Parts: sequence; C-alpha cells; structure tokens
Amino acid sequence: MFNLEDFDIKLDTETISRNFIYCEEVESTNGLLLNSKEFNKDGTVVLAEFQSAGRGRKDSEWLSNANQNLTFSILLKRDFKPNYLNLINLGSSLSIAQALENLYQFKVELKWPNDVLINKKKVAGILLESISKGSSIEKAVIGIGINVNQPNFTGKFLIHPTSVRKEFKREVSRERLMSEILNLFEINLNLAKSNPEKLLNDWKSRCFMLGEKIKIFDGDDSKFGIFDDIDENGFLVLKMKDRTERIHYGDVSLH
Ligand code: BTN
Repeated sequence: MFNLEDFDIKLDTETISRNFIYCEEVESTNGLLLNSKEFNKDGTVVLAEFQSAGRGRKDSEWLSNANQNLTFSILLKRDFKPNYLNLINLGSSLSIAQALENLYQFKVELKWPNDVLINKKKVAGILLESISKGSSIEKAVIGIGINVNQPNFTGKFLIHPTSVRKEFKREVSRERLMSEILNLFEINLNLAKSNPEKLLNDWKSRCFMLGEKIKIFDGDDSKFGIFDDIDENGFLVLKMKDRTERIHYGDVSLH
C-alpha cells in the first residue's frame, strides 16, 4: 500500500502533484486524465496501484505488477509553445534518471526519445499523450511507468526489463522515489522554458548512443546514420552519407 504521508513529506513542489489522486485500479492513468472533465487542474497527478489496460508506446501494453511499481500520470494544462512538449518529454526521462542517481547512485542511461536504462536494461518508460483543439494543445498527459520492486519479468520485450530492486539488490521506497521524481520534474519543466540548453545538455550527457552509428525504425521505414545531436527542439539529428535529417519519431538501435 502506498503511504501518502511518506510521499507528501518529501514532496517539494509548487504545482506538480499538489492535486493528487490515488486509485487502487484503473484501466490507464493516462486515459483517466485525458478523458476526465473532473480532473482538470495543471499539475494534477494520478497514481494507480494497478492498471488493467496500461498503455505503452506504439500501441503496446504496459504490464506492471500491482502494488510493487509506480504507474502514474501528470496532467499539464498551460501555454504550450511549439516543441515545448518535446522538451518536456526529454525532461521527464531526465527527471527519472536524476532521481535514480540521487537516491541509489546508479549510472543511468537514456535512450531517445525517453527510455530509462540501468545496465542496458529498461527500468522506466514514458508515454506522452495530448489533446488538441484546433491548432493548440489543450492538455498534455505524461504517463510514467517505473519498475520499482517487481522481482521478475516474464514475456517478450524489445529491450530487456529490469527493476530498481533487481539492480539495487533490495526493496526501495516507492514513495521516496516518486516524490524525488516529481521534485525534479518541476525543476526540469521550468528549465524547458528558462534554459532549454541546460536541459538538453543534461539529457545528452546520459545518452549512450550519441556519436554512434545507429538505425532508426519508423514503421516499415528504416534509416542509417550517425546519431549526431539532439537539436533545440528535441529532435534527433541523423547524419547520413549524403544529407542530415531531423527525426521526430522512431525507434533507435545501435548499428
Ligand atoms: C513505454 O512503452 O515505454 C511507455 C510506457 C508508459 C507506461 C505508463 S504507466 C502510467 C501511464 N498510464 C499508461 O497507460 N501508460 C503510462
């Protein structure tokens, strides 16, 4: 059972999670915030002990044992400048990496656009979804799934999964980890506006594929080149033989 007091005592934010909703079970915390008229305040966080239809990137499922991990979503309702969401996307994985480093001294690696890895295995994933009205974004929901105290994993995975417990060799406090992530998330959210360069440099310093030969898949399409940079909009800069392309979406692997 998630201990709200332990969580709250370490939460040091102004807006993020000041409206907090705890659920035993929902289909998807992202779905709940995207579709709800009731939960409509910027910074609202929904945490579920179990998701019966947890969503992953590219229409995949996000499977997570009940009561052992963290599955939560953050609602943002604010003035979304173009490409601010891409930076928030990067800022989310960065916040998880920084929290894992601060609390457990892990060496965390980031994989574009937003996977969080320890020892080459995936410990957390992020699904950012938004609703637009005309040409503007009405709300954005950042869904975060972290394998915290799950002891083992079965199934087929693109990247082998792990949990904090498996890597740290003991159970950890979900409450402490969540408050640390949200504290850092608010800092990075502010950085995305005030100093995006710093945010990008912090992200890039944890990106092990930067400078490497990579392959990018997007559906049936694949491209090869050198992972040259992440640009000011959060796009991957791919240097190919004859040209350079800015990639908005896709799955990256070393080539
Ligand atoms: C990925 O495929 O790597 C993204 C996984 C995102 C999972 C989280 S769990 C909380 C939130 N609610 C969902 O249905 N999905 C996200």
